[in-house]
Amino acid sequence: MILPTTSSLSLTLDAFYTETSVTAAETEQFFLNGQLQDASATNKVQKFADLFRELAGSTQPLKIESTNFVPTAAGLASSASGLAALAGALNMYFDLALTTSELSRLTRRGSGSACRSIYGGFAEWTMGDDQTSYARPVADDGWHNDLAMIFILLDATEKKVSSRVGMKRTVETSAFYPAWITSSATDLVAMKAAIAKKDFQRLGEITEASTLKMHGTTLAAVPPFTYWNGETVTAMAHVQQLREQGFPCYFTMDAGPNVKVLVEKKNQAAVLDYLRNFYTQEQLVTATAGPGIEMWKEE
Ligand code: ADP
Ligand code: CO
Repeated sequence: MILPTTSSLSLTLDAFYTETSVTAAETEQFFLNGQLQDASATNKVQKFADLFRELAGSTQPLKIESTNFVPTAAGLASSASGLAALAGALNMYFDLALTTSELSRLTRRGSGSACRSIYGGFAEWTMGDDQTSYARPVADDGWHNDLAMIFILLDATEKKVSSRVGMKRTVETSAFYPAWITSSATDLVAMKAAIAKKDFQRLGEITEASTLKMHGTTLAAVPPFTYWNGETVTAMAHVQQLREQGFPCYFTMDAGPNVKVLVEKKNQAAVLDYLRNFYTQEQLVTATAGPGIEMWKEE
């Protein structure tokens, strides 16, 4: 059911995205980046597609073709992008005309992070049961359009521990996990207050602290693990140095070693200039807030 143990907040970005199409086929087939996927990967999307087939009262096998304009399983949220795109494609294919709330709720079953990526801008995924746990847009008076995110790409290869496996191990064994649950509830309330006030410093401070706490839980898992590599810590230090030089910016991280720097658009060029001292052009990708899913039918 992929029901979360905390509520959470995301910012949808434009730089990394997925294009997915769904057509009728003889047997279920899943192509990712032009490659026919094996039984296990196909089974995963097939089970997700079953939720939509069931709603439509259909047994139609599908050819699912997807292209990730984001490295897959590298801590750059391909699961959020990929499953949100697939949900949109399935909604179109079966003419379900689901509301965004219903679509977000179903998308959650494919990947938790994806239920937020249905929307553009800020979105909050609320905890609850199968009926009530889905994402809602967070009203911010357009403030997300003043923000940017600079990606420092340190390693775009597939992670050794998938998000799902890592989370399960942490929930079941980490001594730090209960503290994470308690503090993330407080952080989310403070985060939404910061958004309501358009208080960038507060938003950034909570974002960074929350990331550190979340990554801290993995260190106490049994067996312990971390999504960081050596360069992750160096990149975090660069962000701190930027602040010392008077540029407000804060890092955040998914389940992966890559560091993302949250900055106001007005400081984006200065922060990028500084980071160019340490990273190649290819390692630095700038994103701004992006739209939610876009769906259409080709005849
Ligand atoms: P990430 O950090 O990239 O989100 P996760 O471990 O959370 O990594 O999820 C990676 C998994 O998401 C992949 O193994 C695959 O099952 C799924 N996924 C990624 N992209 C797509 C896509 N375009 N279509 C369907 N599933 C996808
Ligand atoms: Co993911």
